[in-house]
Amino acid sequence: MAKILFGVSGGIAAYKSLEVVSALRKRGEELKIVMTEEATKFVAPLTFSVVGKCPVYVEPFQSIEGSVIHTTISQWAEIMVIAPLTANTAAKMACGIADNLLTMSALAFNGLKIASPSMNVRMYENPITLENIEKLKKNGWHIVEPESGHLADGEYGKGRYPKAELLIFEIDRMLTPHDYEKKKVLITAGPTREAIDPVRYVTNRSSGKMGYELARAAYLRGADVKLISGPVNIDAPYGVEVLNVESAEDMKRAVLKNAKWADIVIMAAAVADYRPAHISTSKIKKTSDELNIKLVKTDDILKELSKIRLSSQFIVGFAAETDDLLRNAQKKLKEKNLDMIIANDVSRKDIGFDSNYNEVKILCKDGEIISLQRNEKRLIAHNILDTIKSQSFKEF
Ligand code: PMT
Repeated sequence: MAKILFGVSGGIAAYKSLEVVSALRKRGEELKIVMTEEATKFVAPLTFSVVGKCPVYVEPFQSIEGSVIHTTISQWAEIMVIAPLTANTAAKMACGIADNLLTMSALAFNGLKIASPSMNVRMYENPITLENIEKLKKNGWHIVEPESGHLADGEYGKGRYPKAELLIFEIDRMLTPHDYEKKKVLITAGPTREAIDPVRYVTNRSSGKMGYELARAAYLRGADVKLISGPVNIDAPYGVEVLNVESAEDMKRAVLKNAKWADIVIMAAAVADYRPAHISTSKIKKTSDELNIKLVKTDDILKELSKIRLSSQFIVGFAAETDDLLRNAQKKLKEKNLDMIIANDVSRKDIGFDSNYNEVKILCKDGEIISLQRNEKRLIAHNILDTIKSQSFKEF
């Protein structure tokens, strides 16, 4: 639970902060809100107070518990968020002007700082505003860039308040220790599709959730992340470069092309083991009662990878098993020359394929086995990264 000082300055987008405040409150963060006098013309402090279940301060010249308010709340918070950040407030902050409770608190604050400028496109693109924002960056403010699109005043351009989930993700990223800073992590996710003809294919039940959660967690922890994804219905995680592929052959090419870039490779994808020997160029007609499709083995990507791997790299596989979990996983760990394998039971409906949950056993090269109880894939992903960290790099 983080202590968040949430600043709202006076722009039309002030109402969009209600969604962010509401989401932060629902997940249990502790909030205090500071509004400029101008912001209260767009949204009443009462609305923020009810949505955030927290105090809202506007008036600078008051005390709480016998202390001046701006120093008290700026010392209390571990992170300060200003959204929307108007051109006027950005200009004041860039010059060190402290003429209202928000700018006074911002000047007094020395914890984690994040701001989201939102305004008219011409105001945003004015070199003075851009220069002020650059100054704020130099002063330790993490700036979440505004989005481009239709603006409240009917114009089109850069200046829109970002999606609430992006802002929350950036807040999370600031609050998460960056223990994967400077690490390059290559992750695969999802199924592959092996074409039979132009309209049909062979695939499996992987949703991509496990791999996407790993990518998201690694990025939150400061890593550079590339995600090679089979066809899935999940939005790309923020900050992660996603390379979309379809077949096992496409995935192999993408993995081998990017392999040297990575310090850590995690193969969470459910790559097809077999593909149709021939792809019909036209739709196969329903002419006979039976249709036999000859399947041939696909190349094993991990085995190919292990032939070219650098000694400094850490390679992790997954084992999707319906029986003899540990023995089969152990075999794959050896045969594929891996540093670690994550074994999951895919016969269960409450974990594994297409579930938000997983329960895994992590088998390390040195024989250690770590059991992770059933939990959200989001948390399992962090546990897996913790184990990779403890098993791999001395300098972590
Ligand atoms: O995507 P979700 O719905 O979230 O489900 C997650 C998951 C169950 C798919 C995931 O946790 C998982 O187990 N992924 C690996 C699935 C798999 O293909 O397991 P396998 O035991 O068949 O393969 C072992 C390893 O070899 C895997 O790392 C796999 O990526 C790799 N492999 C497999 C075949 C192949 N041709 N080349 C490979 O590199």
